[in-house]
Amino acid sequence: MSKTVTDAIKDRRSVRKYKDVEIDPEKVRKCIENATLAPNSSNMQLWEFIHITDKKILKKIAYACFNQNAAKTSKNMVVFVARRDKWRSRAKENLNFLENLFDKQEKEGIDVKKRRILSRRYYKKIMPTIYSDFFGIIGIYKKLLSYIIGLFRPIYREVLFSDLKVVTHKSVALAAENFMLSMNEIGYDTCPMEGSDTTRVKKILNLPRKAEITMIISCGIKDKKGIYSPRFRVSFDEVYKRV
Ligand SMILES: Cc1cc2nc3c(=O)[nH]c(=O)nc-3n(C[C@H](O)[C@H](O)[C@H](O)COP(=O)(O)O)c2cc1C
Repeated sequence: MSKTVTDAIKDRRSVRKYKDVEIDPEKVRKCIENATLAPNSSNMQLWEFIHITDKKILKKIAYACFNQNAAKTSKNMVVFVARRDKWRSRAKENLNFLENLFDKQEKEGIDVKKRRILSRRYYKKIMPTIYSDFFGIIGIYKKLLSYIIGLFRPIYREVLFSDLKVVTHKSVALAAENFMLSMNEIGYDTCPMEGSDTTRVKKILNLPRKAEITMIISCGIKDKKGIYSPRFRVSFDEVYKRV
């Protein structure tokens, strides 16, 4: 019987040393496909996954990760990249998908007029309002506006350039967790790393200036000394609040 989600959640650990055994990049690719199924803000999918299998590039990236063991001994790496700059094309693709769906449903006699109007407004007006900015200036104007409107009714407030950074990285991080759990399910181990020189990593991978690295995940099969200590979490009562 295969592992349950709970099994994978409990079994996954951050592995700092991998065995000198190759892993199958095709299986890793499948886990990256699972990463793309993660929930994400407005389904904008502002992400990109760079799967590194080339030994020379792995070595360069490990150096950019300060040669930490989790990087140095890994067999594949996946760089989770936030691509906020792709908002225009992603909004367009979402709307195309929905328009095609509504065309089909209309032919089947389903009334989609209202949903079509709402979808168009969402991806043609709301998304550009949220994502467009000019050196952070429009963001400040939007923040002020949301503050004033917010005095009278609930309003979306994550409109600053820095807020959108958080919004985008949040979704990429969810994809990263999907990936790590999928890897655990098939008996592969991982370590998420933010300890890296992201400027160097971007340069090695030829990533555009606006791309931002959420984390790099090293992959392999854990060595018997690969887990440094038993798992520690603060008491559940300290973090759990029921209201
Ligand atoms: C965003 C993020 C960045 C991390 N960066 C590193 C890192 O650079 N190097 C490292 O060895 N572990 C890194 N970790 C792993 C954490 O130290 C680890 O998840 C934590 O100690 C809990 O252990 P566990 O994952 O085995 O449950 C990172 C984890 C996350 C989520």
